[in-house]
Amino acid sequence: MRKKIAAGNWKMNLDYGQAKSLLQELIQLKDQFNPETEIIICPSAPYLAVFAELLNDHKWLKLGAQNCFHENEGAFTGEISPLQLKSLELEYCIVGHSERRDRFNEDYDFLSKKTRALLAHGINPIFCCGEQLQVRDSNVYKEFVMKQIEDSLFKLRPEELAKVVIAYEPIWAIGTGKTASCEQAQEIHSLIRARISKDFGDKVANEISIIYGGSCKAENAKELFAQKDIDGGLIGGASLNANGFCEISNSF
Ligand code: 13P
Repeated sequence: MRKKIAAGNWKMNLDYGQAKSLLQELIQLKDQFNPETEIIICPSAPYLAVFAELLNDHKWLKLGAQNCFHENEGAFTGEISPLQLKSLELEYCIVGHSERRDRFNEDYDFLSKKTRALLAHGINPIFCCGEQLQVRDSNVYKEFVMKQIEDSLFKLRPEELAKVVIAYEPIWAIGTGKTASCEQAQEIHSLIRARISKDFGDKVANEISIIYGGSCKAENAKELFAQKDIDGGLIGGASLNANGFCEISNSF
């Protein structure tokens, strides 16, 4: 059965002290988190090493990075390699968040390389896709999202693709308070699953977790997560509140 996931993308928020406090709050809430849900937090990169140590005794709470480069080592000032993430025993890394695609011009080829590099080190990529408002309005949004996935992921082997978590994040819903309706989200999630089934077979399609992101919060998570093909959420703003994030994780 595929994993149910609540992943917090903290983005470029919180200073070190605030981030550590939030981590402690989450640890203290352990008994209230659904043990059947994979709980992941993705704090800013400078905090990862200390967080990895602090979480040594709390393996139920998984740690992820927000980004990485695709080379293992070398003269790439400012970048972080999958090998370095692996040395911290990280299990997840976000790839291709729309904020990186838009602001840092990350294209499908670059994202494909990062995805492969992560998989080669046993790190599960959380691969983001999603359309801008003008694409949604122009009615080619389905083709647009499918192309994002096909271009970056469809050369993987089936057993590799099964390890990827796909996050559908319509850009018009990110940080806007405007959540996609359950029908809008389910429509894309089921299309993604059907598309994967066509090329990779039912086994991979049924194994892969497809999560939703974009103004997902405690108030709307239950309805979203009740959809057949929505396996959880990639949560931005609402993951910065420990109780709210915990409530979201219990929304399945
Ligand atoms: P918000 O939940 O703040 O809309 O952000 C979603 C997101 O981008 C998660 O990666």
